[in-house]
Amino acid sequence: MNHFEYKNGELFCEDVSVGTIAKEVGTPFYLYSRATLVRHFQAFDSGFDTIDHITCFAVKSCSNIAVLSLFSGLGGGADIVSGGELYRALQAGIDPKRIIYSGVGKTEEELRYGLESGILLFNVESEQELHRLNKVAADMAVKAPIAFRVNPDVDPKTHAYISTGLAKNKFGIPINEALDLYVQAAAMESIEVQGVSCHIGSQLTLISPFVEALRKVKAFVEKLAEKGITIDYIDLGGGVGITYDDETPPHPKEYAKAIREELSGLQATLIFEPGRVIVGNAGILVTEVQYTKTNRGGEKEKNFVVVDAGMNDLTRPSLYGAFHAVAPVEKKNAAMEVVDIVGPICETGDFLAKDRTFPHVDQGDLLAVMSAGAYGFTMASNYNSRPRVAEVMVSGDQFAVIRRRETMESLIQGESVPDFSGEE
Ligand code: LLP
Repeated sequence: MNHFEYKNGELFCEDVSVGTIAKEVGTPFYLYSRATLVRHFQAFDSGFDTIDHITCFAVKSCSNIAVLSLFSGLGGGADIVSGGELYRALQAGIDPKRIIYSGVGKTEEELRYGLESGILLFNVESEQELHRLNKVAADMAVKAPIAFRVNPDVDPKTHAYISTGLAKNKFGIPINEALDLYVQAAAMESIEVQGVSCHIGSQLTLISPFVEALRKVKAFVEKLAEKGITIDYIDLGGGVGITYDDETPPHPKEYAKAIREELSGLQATLIFEPGRVIVGNAGILVTEVQYTKTNRGGEKEKNFVVVDAGMNDLTRPSLYGAFHAVAPVEKKNAAMEVVDIVGPICETGDFLAKDRTFPHVDQGDLLAVMSAGAYGFTMASNYNSRPRVAEVMVSGDQFAVIRRRETMESLIQGESVPDFSGEE
């Protein structure tokens, strides 16, 4: 459930009409509902109320500090994958003891920053990373708390680009090779082994792959115990998928129930790294129709609706062929047409929706691209020298710009024309 609803034919976010915001802020913009963010965070988190756990929001899915600080206030932590995300999480006031650091390519500088900040856990993804971390920690005369991210070789049955738990993916350490590494790490001077971590993929619509992975992790934790290595944290990675179109993902409560049942008897604090399930349906992208046109001459006529948001603003349709529902901000009684909703970027791959049956739109109409809260703004770029759009948050009958629209000046910020001596 979310708080984007029509009232008298007009799309509202909570108690504010989307059209009113567009008038004040201009288009395009991302719009988040605070009440939906809170509701979704709590729906996930409360499923684990009866057990020790930390919900570390996956910053990569939506990294605005207003969103991060909201979750921090609800008791959440952060799952980060870069120094930049660590900076954001700290700026948002997230307790470092609720921050975990994932990712296959952490640099020496990033490891140092994590150690300096006193984060809870590094999810180490290779033997070389272990050695680098041990060295950096030794130089700083501290101990680095770690989990290894194990790869359980489970098929998450999701898009190939976002499935991560198969043996052929670049992530983690094969679970059947990890034992030796744990023994090695446990003997290291500047490493403190604390956890096991596992993330098999994103936008999962089935519970069974999570359960299969968890069983493998559980068996692995028992093997570790036999070697005298005790585990304080088990990190189960990202959350469940969401409904973009007609998917029927499990409700977070069902997911929680399955995990709780599977984990009975294990004495460890659980860590979760959900992103999409919390923010995905709490945000939309609002865009304005610039032109409509019909291209004839091909096999069949094609209707195009050209809007002011493109693949640089929301890349999911172009990159993954992802479906996002599109809705008119103001409903009107118009004839239905089949249209492609496309952006202004000079690429055929620049589309937000293809072959959609949609009521006829006119220049100046506003459209809402739904379910855009996760991996929307965070994946935006300046391609075609387009300033990144504004981000707005609504709470009740109020709204606030939480990231102002970039300007022309910000496009060339940091650039300079060199003056090479000796050249004409
Ligand atoms: N933890 C780790 C280690 C991850 O790699 C991810 C997502 C998450 C947690 C959060 O997963 P979630 O709860 O959001 O499913 N850009 C793609 C999604 C990439 C996901 C990357 N990792 C998209 O737009 O669909």
